[in-house]
Amino acid sequence: MDRACWSGSPTAGVRCAGRNFERERIRIRQTVQIVLAAEEAELADRGFLLEAVRGIGIPFNIWAGYSAYHGFGNSSDLGMIQVPTEYVDMLLVLRRRRIRTFCEIGVDFGGFTALTAAYLKRMCGLEEYHCVDVRPRFVDGEFYERILPLVFHVPATSNDLCGRAFDAVFCDGDHSYWWTKRDFLNLGRYARIFCLHDIKAHEYDNLEGGVTRFWAEFKESFRDRCSILEISHSGPDWMGIGIAFLREPL
Ligand SMILES: C[S@@+](CC[C@H](N)C(=O)[O-])C[C@H]1O[C@@H](n2cnc3c(N)ncnc32)[C@H](O)[C@@H]1O
Repeated sequence: MDRACWSGSPTAGVRCAGRNFERERIRIRQTVQIVLAAEEAELADRGFLLEAVRGIGIPFNIWAGYSAYHGFGNSSDLGMIQVPTEYVDMLLVLRRRRIRTFCEIGVDFGGFTALTAAYLKRMCGLEEYHCVDVRPRFVDGEFYERILPLVFHVPATSNDLCGRAFDAVFCDGDHSYWWTKRDFLNLGRYARIFCLHDIKAHEYDNLEGGVTRFWAEFKESFRDRCSILEISHSGPDWMGIGIAFLREPL
């Protein structure tokens, strides 16, 4: 399925609706537009990018790991579920790459998607940003489709796109060991750059070993074949982004 399948309200599933939701939705739109209009020098600046993440926000929750990111909160469920500095450093790693096609597995409400697509469009010549998710929760999809090259596969999994070769894949869907491995086998291994979120996230260890088990096995198998980077700013047991340059030097 190559187009959005908006089942019901585009905001279906958003728990925190109302005034906060509307305000935050607009704030995210404005942030994305600022990034699209930014100078290249700004987009290479870590401080500017952190401000952009602040504009998108991280969803309100009580995770201890977020205590260092006071001021980044989004007062609704919207935002991106990332450690801000990890995310920004990933963008800075990707910024000099040619990334025409990108696939995000697990887009959720779309805060990560909108900012990442805007950044890659400005810096990497992005032509297609494929959004894969089992749940139709993406907020403001009709708006972002007009200004970003989004292609929706919702509801879908990596099974539905198996074998497609994207320039880069960011995997953040089902965090069980078997799904992480399947996402890699379906899409990640065909990409030039494979990014995996939650490489340190031991809260998924009960899911057949979770993402951490897959990442350990992946490194064991691929460390002689490609450069692998780990971005982790939150202690040994939380989040973290792995980046593997499967078909090009670091
Ligand atoms: C942690 S959220 C993604 C967060 C988002 N990437 C961000 O950075 O803000 C995980 C998402 O994966 C979706 N998901 C769960 N299992 C999936 C699967 N097998 N394939 C694709 N998406 C899946 C969920 O519906 C949810 O929206």
